[in-house]
Amino acid sequence: MGVLFVGCGDSKGDKQAGSAQTQGVDETQLGLRTAPLEGENVKLVDYSFETKPVGENERIERSFENAPPLISHTTEGMLPITQQDNMCLSCHDREVAEGVGATPVPQSHIYDLRTMKKVASSVADARYNCTQCHVPQAEAKPLVANTFSPEFSDQSQKHQSNLLDVLNQGVK
Ligand code: HEC
Ligand code: HEC
Repeated sequence: MGVLFVGCGDSKGDKQAGSAQTQGVDETQLGLRTAPLEGENVKLVDYSFETKPVGENERIERSFENAPPLISHTTEGMLPITQQDNMCLSCHDREVAEGVGATPVPQSHIYDLRTMKKVASSVADARYNCTQCHVPQAEAKPLVANTFSPEFSDQSQKHQSNLLDVLNQGVK
């Protein structure tokens, strides 16, 4: 099992580092996984993803205003997203979303911020890989407590977004 030594570079620090060396910090005491950095004794916490069929889940409140919403349903059988196949768009494309009860992708996703133009169809390339920003939520106890609580400019923003309008504020 490895032991990591801590210390700083200056001469005073070196003296302190000397004393740290005699004690050392066991690597199982570092970080949140409390297991050796090299080795197979990492114990994963128990967690489970939402398993209800798509369309039967409650939408999850936005983490903060204009945060990417968490995926409220299972993604089983929908991944990976490839160049040929994007299952997400088969329901979330603005053309079909309403019909299947899904939230349509917002205006920001059909706008190319490089060319400053609306895209002709589907979504801008930078938005194609949905799970780069949107993730499903698992029932897992956080390893570190979080006291952040968001402030919304309007209560409706807890379940919808308007990033493109915000980006365009004051732009003529
Ligand atoms: C079969 C249709 C279908 C597919 C495929 C699908 N979704 Fe959904 N999605 C829905 C529906 C319906 C909802 C709303 C209710 C729910 O979660 O069941 C939803 C909700 C969401 C939400 C939450 C929206 C909000 O306003 O809170 C996100 C984000 C999302 N989906 C992303 C994705 C991504 C990313 C994929 C691809 C991995 C995907 N969805 C695939 C139908 C679908
Ligand atoms: C680069 C990060 C990123 C990618 C990639 C991305 N999104 Fe988003 N998404 C966001 C953010 C941030 C928001 C909220 C702010 C906004 O844009 O309005 C959002 C909002 C949404 C919403 C909520 C819309 C509303 O009116 O409230 C849906 C649904 C959604 N995205 C689906 C998708 C799907 C489906 C894809 C893939 C085709 C995707 N997103 C790709 C970052 C991303």
